[in-house]
Amino acid sequence: MIERPEILAWLRETDPGHLSRLYRRADAVRRATVGEAVHLRGLVELSNHCVRRCAYCGISVENASIARYRMTADEVLECARTAVGLGYGTLVLQAGEDYGLTRDWVAELVRQIKATTPLAVTLSLGERPDGDLAAWREAGADRYLLRFETSDPALFAAIHPPLPGRPSDRLAILRRLRELGYEVGSGVLVGIPGQTWESLADDLLRFRELDLDMIGVGPFIPHPETPLGRGLFPRAPEGEQVPADEETTTKAVALTRLVRPDANIPSTTALATIGPSFGRERGLMRGANVVMPNLTPPAYRKLYEIYPGKAIVSETAEECRSCLSGRIAIIGRVPGKGPGGRARGARTEPPARPSPATG
Ligand code: 5AD
Repeated sequence: MIERPEILAWLRETDPGHLSRLYRRADAVRRATVGEAVHLRGLVELSNHCVRRCAYCGISVENASIARYRMTADEVLECARTAVGLGYGTLVLQAGEDYGLTRDWVAELVRQIKATTPLAVTLSLGERPDGDLAAWREAGADRYLLRFETSDPALFAAIHPPLPGRPSDRLAILRRLRELGYEVGSGVLVGIPGQTWESLADDLLRFRELDLDMIGVGPFIPHPETPLGRGLFPRAPEGEQVPADEETTTKAVALTRLVRPDANIPSTTALATIGPSFGRERGLMRGANVVMPNLTPPAYRKLYEIYPGKAIVSETAEECRSCLSGRIAIIGRVPGKGPGGRARGARTEPPARPSPATG
């Protein structure tokens, strides 16, 4: 089992020859645990309203320069039908933390998707209260994504001003999601100003401790309309500051595969954004096994600008699908079939022995 000193050594490694050993090892573990399938999760960005003021995020309530939208249930259901038509197994409903998406509205939407399609439903709707999370699970939602972004409490607090009277405790919410029976996803940003190698190593160890089912790791991309994008936060001392580049992000993806061998790990859109020619493929070749093609209607998609220059901002769902299929085939992999939930060590367990009672 990989431990902290080795994780830290790999994070600080710069020699390409040595790094290729890390990447080959992560790729071999990926093949042995989750196989060659690349699962496609159709992403619907259903609202860009948000009550939070996360210092990196372009749809923070502080950004007065963007038009806000909220999709209708019919529009989302249309996306769900498109997802089925394109052969996706999962629909991911993501939004800012938007209380205009009420508990009952989301629950009814989930019920309708589950009643009319075979899709697994993943929610990514922020730090919602317990009652909301429970109601949505009850309505049939299968998975929930909430990145903890960084495990450094001081850095987390600096970039996530809390709502009045509601301290943020994302780790507590992740544990609660597990109790409710969700498959649980989280993840971090790579290269936040002030993030050190030590703290990124702690993030990776936290993935193991939380036994996460899904883990998203993407580079921090500065957004000019945010405090972090305007350079208002101090960087860590030279040599300690984690860079927000493609190499560092794929190192973190590879190490994520080693700490959580059977997790579902996306090659994120943020990685594709900073490495437009081959970034997404490199993620898939260095430990990732999931991609999240965008199903948001293009008119809304360009308003869901959590960071600038987001990859695939204008293609239709169909164009996005065919481009990704080509990219998956080129690297010798196959599109996943079915919902593609956590395999829970399926391929590494020995075959079940017949019980003595039945011979
Ligand atoms: N750069 C990169 N990723 C970002 N996210 C939000 N803002 C940015 C940014 N500027 C990520 C966060 C969030 C996810 C939905 O998008 O990690 O959890």
